[in-house]
This record gives sequence, C-alpha cells and structure tokens, in this order.
Amino acid sequence: MRTIYLNGKYTPETEGKVSVFDRGFLFSDAVYEVVSVLDGKLVDFGGHVQRLARSLGEIGICGAPDADGWLTICRELVARNNLEEGMIYWQVTRGAPEDRDFIFPSTETPPTVLAFTQSRKLADNPLAQRGIRVITMPDLRWGRADIKTTQLLYASMMKNEAIARGADDAWMERNGWITEGSAQNAHIITHEGVLVTHPLNREILHGITRASVLPLVAQRIEERPFSISEAEQAAEAFVSSASGFVMPVVQINGHIIGDGKPGSATVQLRRAYIDWARRSAI
Ligand code: PDD
Repeated sequence: MRTIYLNGKYTPETEGKVSVFDRGFLFSDAVYEVVSVLDGKLVDFGGHVQRLARSLGEIGICGAPDADGWLTICRELVARNNLEEGMIYWQVTRGAPEDRDFIFPSTETPPTVLAFTQSRKLADNPLAQRGIRVITMPDLRWGRADIKTTQLLYASMMKNEAIARGADDAWMERNGWITEGSAQNAHIITHEGVLVTHPLNREILHGITRASVLPLVAQRIEERPFSISEAEQAAEAFVSSASGFVMPVVQINGHIIGDGKPGSATVQLRRAYIDWARRSAI
C-alpha cells in the first residue's frame, strides 16, 4: 500500500480523508502538477514548482508549500514508497469551507494539499517504440488552458473517444489549428526540417517538458500555430509531457506520418531528453 501526503501528514493511501465540501471536489477549484521520477530523482523539479506557483497565483489560492516544502514532500514520498521510476502527483485545492458556495471562502481557509506517487516505466515505454495514433477533435475547453487546473473532464472524454475510435489519443483544434494533445504538447517536423510548435499563450499549457526539450532540438524551431492538414502531411510528429517525455506520433486522422514508424529526429530527441533528464534530476 502506498504512503501519500495529505495536509502535512504522511499516511496510508486508504486513510487520507478530504471533506465533501472541499472545493476541489465540488468545483474543480484546484491546480495540479505531475513530476516524473527517474532513478529515484525528480525531473524538472524547479520548472514544476514555478508553474504551480503561477497557476495558484492566477486563481488566487494561498498557503501552499514553497519549493523547499515540495522538495521535502517529494523526497519523503520517494523514500517511503521505494519509488525508482514513475510520477509524483501534486494537487492544491482552495480547501473546504463549511458549505457549498460560488463565492470563494476567506483566504484563511487552508488549502488542501495532496501528493502521491505512481510507479510506472517511463524510459522503456513500449508505446515509444511503436508511436501513437491521434485523431483531432474540437478544443472545447475554457479559455485559460495555461492554468493547470483539475478540470480534466473534457480531456478525459476525448481520450476515451479516441480509444473507442481505434486511436491512442486526441489532438485538439480551434478553427482548424492544432492547440495541443489531451495531456501533452503537440509538435511537428516539416519536410523542410523545421520543428513547428504552438506559441505560448492562453490556448495551451506551457509544458515543462516542452521547455526542456526545445533547447535539445537540432532543427530550426518555429513557434507558430500549425493546421490539421499541415500536421497530417508532416515528416514527423510527437508529443511532450512529464509522463510520456518525447512520444512519437505515427498517425494523424488515419494519415500515416513518415513511414509509419517513429521518425529518426524524434527518436534522437527522445534519447537526448531522457539523457538530459537523468543528468539533471535532483
Ligand atoms: N499533463 N498540455 C496539457 C493539456 C497537459 O495536461 C500536459 C501535462 C502537458 C504537458 O506538460 P508537461 O510537459 O509540463 O507535463 C501539455 C500531465 C502529464 C497530466 O495531466 O498527467
């Protein structure tokens, strides 16, 4: 049984209790992070702490742990759960006032702070050998995709629909332009050898993996929206995320990308990212 962290205590997973009035439960009034663990160490820890602080600031939740606090929590959870490889999930909600109310409770209401580990093979992921098939769907999320909130119903619906339709995942589009994957940033490499990736604005999550991957890219980079048809005709495509690292995409809406196998630049980039992640993990 796992040991989790909840509101200052390390406890068996079955004993963590949260109020039914918790705003994370009733309103998805909560933000989260997913941090990967390789060799028992935290990948991109600084980036995740910073983005969590930004998400909390954007919606005005106070009282969450600072960087040192998160580091202690993560290291303690890694040690208590003997985690070699996998992820640590962090969530901070606006806490549990005495009743359900659309008005935010006073900032004296303490936030609910949760963290738990998930053991998973990340570096030797068989999906990365095969590559994933995606289909595009309208991006029906709210207009602040840059805040990492727990409002994940639509992402979850899309992923389920993609699987029901014989694919592995969904890419979202607004007016024909790809924004991002269900839980990953989306990138293509054109036949001219240019890596194209959506610019950082409110339409996408500012991926921590994206930020660490781009400096490792050998190709020229263009941060601009790309269309569904440009993606379908691309030489290579991939997604980036803390749990998938660099994951090749081999089919988009049934169009085979390259020769249907992970592209060579993508495979190289995945290797480069995993090397960098192992070297820089803390
Ligand atoms: N998802 N875009 C969305 C919508 C995401 O949910 C994620 C992460 C990313 C990639 O961000 P990062 O590189 O910082 O992980 C992009 C996490 C892994 C999840 O929800 O499990």
